[in-house]
Amino acid sequence: MIQPLKRFFTLHGMLPLILILFVCVFSGAMFLIIQSKQYDKIVTYSGRYLNETLSNEERVNDLLSQMTLSEKIGQMALVEKNSVRKSGDVSEYGIGGILSGAGGKPDANTVEGWRDMVTKFEQLSRESRLGIPVLYGVDANHGHGNVPAATIFPHFIGLGASGDEDLVAEVARATGEELVATGINWSYSPTLDLPEDIRWGRVYETFSSDPNLVARLGSAYIRGIQNDDVGHVPVLATAKHFIGAGSMGWESSSNKNFLIDQGKIEVDEVKLREIYLPPFAAAVDAGVGSVMVGLQSWGTTKLSAEKYLITDVLKGELGFDGFVVSDWYSVYEISNFDFYSSVVAINAGVDMIMLPFEYETFVRNVSWAVKLRLISEERIDDAVRRILRAKFKLGLFDERKSAPELDVIGSEAHRKLARDAVSQSLVLLKNDSQVLPLKNVRSIHVAGSSAHNIGRQMGAWTIEWQGVDGNWVPGATSILDGIEEVSEEGTTILFAEDGIFEEGSRADVGIAVVGEAPYAEGWGDDPRPKLSDVDLSAIEELRKTSERLVVVLVTGRPLIITNELPDWDALVVAWLPGSEGAGVADGLFGKRPFTGTLPIHWPAIIKQVPVSTDGKTTDGTDLLFERDFGL
Ligand code: BGC
Repeated sequence: MIQPLKRFFTLHGMLPLILILFVCVFSGAMFLIIQSKQYDKIVTYSGRYLNETLSNEERVNDLLSQMTLSEKIGQMALVEKNSVRKSGDVSEYGIGGILSGAGGKPDANTVEGWRDMVTKFEQLSRESRLGIPVLYGVDANHGHGNVPAATIFPHFIGLGASGDEDLVAEVARATGEELVATGINWSYSPTLDLPEDIRWGRVYETFSSDPNLVARLGSAYIRGIQNDDVGHVPVLATAKHFIGAGSMGWESSSNKNFLIDQGKIEVDEVKLREIYLPPFAAAVDAGVGSVMVGLQSWGTTKLSAEKYLITDVLKGELGFDGFVVSDWYSVYEISNFDFYSSVVAINAGVDMIMLPFEYETFVRNVSWAVKLRLISEERIDDAVRRILRAKFKLGLFDERKSAPELDVIGSEAHRKLARDAVSQSLVLLKNDSQVLPLKNVRSIHVAGSSAHNIGRQMGAWTIEWQGVDGNWVPGATSILDGIEEVSEEGTTILFAEDGIFEEGSRADVGIAVVGEAPYAEGWGDDPRPKLSDVDLSAIEELRKTSERLVVVLVTGRPLIITNELPDWDALVVAWLPGSEGAGVADGLFGKRPFTGTLPIHWPAIIKQVPVSTDGKTTDGTDLLFERDFGL
């Protein structure tokens, strides 16, 4: 027996084996090639899906039945606009979505520049075989923030302080109008995260740490921006960052540059369901068109790989019928192998992938994954059906409703709304001897780094991802300008940023407008959020020349101010008010009453953080101010 076997395995004897192997590989390859052709076979074109009298589902099914596999995968790609290598690629790959990441502006950053850029992408997409229009998305977190002339509303934390659903819906509607005027039909907003740790650099992007308030305001925002009663194409909203964002552990980030952002969420399933899920459930009820899965992890699993949470809970239990989009590059953080990562994310239930760069490789990888049966055709069809459903719902295939004129951007009506929103977002935390509102004040000294600095009052996600410090935005009003405008006639107002005024110059009231410089995402993670030495010194100097001292905090989150507070007569938190600084002055001078309340617990010392959403401090000591407090 041994001898014949040995002989068989000599080079001569191996020939049959090699032959068999060759035949196997050859027929396998032929099978795949034939199959590939099958997948990309084009069925006869019928424009039935363009018939507006059919139901959206009929139209989606008709369109889907005519699409090749590559066309379907193209729809699942969300590409950053600067990464589109050749303009012809938009139609050739049938790209489903284009985005301007924060700061992704046209060469001419003007309203016309934006409209021309977005329209060009839209036209290119319509040149594809089936003419499927592209979704164009931006982070309109607080207005059409990439555009200098736009109305910049308070960041969400300020809207949270107002607690006013109608206001939030109005802000969303106005934001939608400014977006649509430049052709944009998708906003990566609202954020439904619940911040438990003020050290996180995204606190200001959230409405509150109160799940009920977030659910209420988030839904109002969705209804406002997706409203199809407005006479123009509505804007698709995105509830983000699914799920648990705000509960990440300190120093748990998977990004070596960050401390907490993109970290591990520290919640078990019970807490996730009780606290973090309700805002998303409310968003689904409000009809949100897309949900973004965040960059955080649950245990060791990146959220974009979390099949149970995405497919079973969000799509299954909550009945979400829109599409799930992944966050920036997050799919490729699942593993070191792009092919494998795409397979895992799509099988987990991600429908559109914010690549945001390499679309050619993505289409190739996913196409092979389907041919190798690693992703089912049903899964691809489900993803594309969801994306197309959103496009039909927005009316992108239909006779265009006329878009608002460009002059709606930064219009007087929107600025008035923003100014109202600012005054409603102010929270009065201290007011000794009723120093506020300021009445019959003859002289005012104003100081501080944020008093005459529009970049600071806007915060990040404005023109640039990290914002721009300084006075640079056309049409906006600084808080100092607002004070000058609103103060009573005859009041002398002097400004010195460092709080040092001419010798002998005294004021009835000193207003210190101090706070944070702009930051976004992980770059704003801060071990101890507090006032800068420069601002502390300005306050100290100002104190010397003022009878009474009013401090206005321009900040994205509670700062540790426990030691300084006793020396201040009044304290107003203005959050990040945006372009209309006069709204702050309206509150200070009593044109509008203070109605805002804290949307988040305010720690006294850093050892208290994280503070649970229901107000339990880590060290068991008392907070400086509890959520919902406001005079
Ligand atoms: C952020 C998202 C944002 C996306 C696109 C990511 O870095 O986490 O909130 O929507 O970028 O700009």
